Amino acid sequence: MATWRTTSRDRPHRTAADAAGPESAALARAAAARGHQVHAATAEAAGREPAAKLAGQVIIDFTRPDRAVEQITAYARRHGVGAVLTVNEYLTELTSLVCAELGLPGNDPHFAHAARNKAAMARVLAEAGVRIPYTRLARGDGELHDALHDRQVGFPCAIKPAAGAGSAGVIVVTDLDEATPAANAARSAHPTDGGAGHAGIVVQAYAAGTEYSVESVTQDGATTHLAITRKATTSGPCRVETGHSLPVCLPSATEAAVHREVRTAIRAVGVRNGASHTEVVIDLAGRCTVIEIAARLGAGHIGILLQHALGIDVFAALLDVALGRPAALTPTARGHATVRFITSPRTGRLTSLSRLPEQGPGVPFVRWRAAVGDLVHAATANTDRLGCFVVTGSDADEVEERADALGRQIQVQVGPLPAVGGPGQAKPARTAAIAG
Ligand SMILES: Nc1ncnc2c1ncn2[C@@H]1O[C@H](COP(=O)(O)OP(=O)(O)OP(=O)(O)O)[C@@H](O)[C@H]1O
Ligand SMILES: [Mg+2]
Repeated sequence: MATWRTTSRDRPHRTAADAAGPESAALARAAAARGHQVHAATAEAAGREPAAKLAGQVIIDFTRPDRAVEQITAYARRHGVGAVLTVNEYLTELTSLVCAELGLPGNDPHFAHAARNKAAMARVLAEAGVRIPYTRLARGDGELHDALHDRQVGFPCAIKPAAGAGSAGVIVVTDLDEATPAANAARSAHPTDGGAGHAGIVVQAYAAGTEYSVESVTQDGATTHLAITRKATTSGPCRVETGHSLPVCLPSATEAAVHREVRTAIRAVGVRNGASHTEVVIDLAGRCTVIEIAARLGAGHIGILLQHALGIDVFAALLDVALGRPAALTPTARGHATVRFITSPRTGRLTSLSRLPEQGPGVPFVRWRAAVGDLVHAATANTDRLGCFVVTGSDADEVEERADALGRQIQVQVGPLPAVGGPGQAKPARTAAIAG
């Protein structure tokens, strides 16, 4: 959804953000805390726990993007909106169109599609000279067959929805036999928030190495890299993100190479005013390959990590960028922060949870999404994660060690689902491993 805000003084302004998810909530809170009025464009009326008191909202059918642009633009004009922004992956293209229509600071709408669609992204990044994994779009069985037999793809390879996010439907396969079910799973993965139908799947050469992301903010075409983040994922066929740590200090030549690729990627997908989150793999030789770029702030509480580790209020900065004001992007702290996500080892009924970290000194944030009795899933997408906690401190190693120790303590027990039509007896629960 989109959220607008109006400044309390002088003249009205607005911003657009998505209301679902912690990043949207943080953005709306940041706007309200600065005395702005927040308006929301949302698929459904604000739920039980609105992130901030809304000055107004407009209900939008995001599956019809053309109409959505018209409706949001009309609403924005009616209410004197001065800024429009989103932290929602699925709404970045729409937001760039709305900003362009209203003459507000935003991204280039001609390229915004390339930050949403992995086939278009591969095309524009390759044209711009960014090092990316060889990528083929497969709309039907014929193209899938050709892609899987293309020696430039090879095995292992990654199969994923062209317009997906949150790792949903992303599967790394090691041979042809695994590829067909993976392609079917990627085809049936649906966008979680809006989107206009399925855009096909992509088959991509596997980029081996260590995964990082680069968090950047661009204002009037000038980019500031806020941090490089190390990313942990599950290691099986499905790569669910299990943690982020920042800032990472890379050898200076490697860092320069990463920043060079990322800056080119940012320009290529038309990011001119707003955040970007670029995911890269660095191989043993220090070469950087861009896996994907998103024209939004990194999800997974990266905004909180930036705040605690570096003292950068990225939500306030994004509001300023959207309002066309100078954004404060210089670090005011030199700490470290990590977020760890907790996953279930299998699908079943959550029977007990214990020894969870508590919010307190060095643990500024704990969020638990699942409750005892819930059906939980072995993680195949980021949305399957059960909860998370953030650890901060001045020393990177100590922060990691503390997070590891807190993670090891957590006890997650998952029992089987009652058989359909059966007596509903839970078998002895099994202690889960946690993401670390
Ligand atoms: N070509 C590749 N080579 C190696 N690993 C890959 C490749 N493509 C995807 N992966 C792995 O799968 C993960 C998810 O893929 P990708 O980022 O493309 O999907 P996504 O749905 O956009 O994810 P998210 O929105 O969570 O970033 C990556 O972080 C990486 O671990
Ligand atoms: Mg990704």
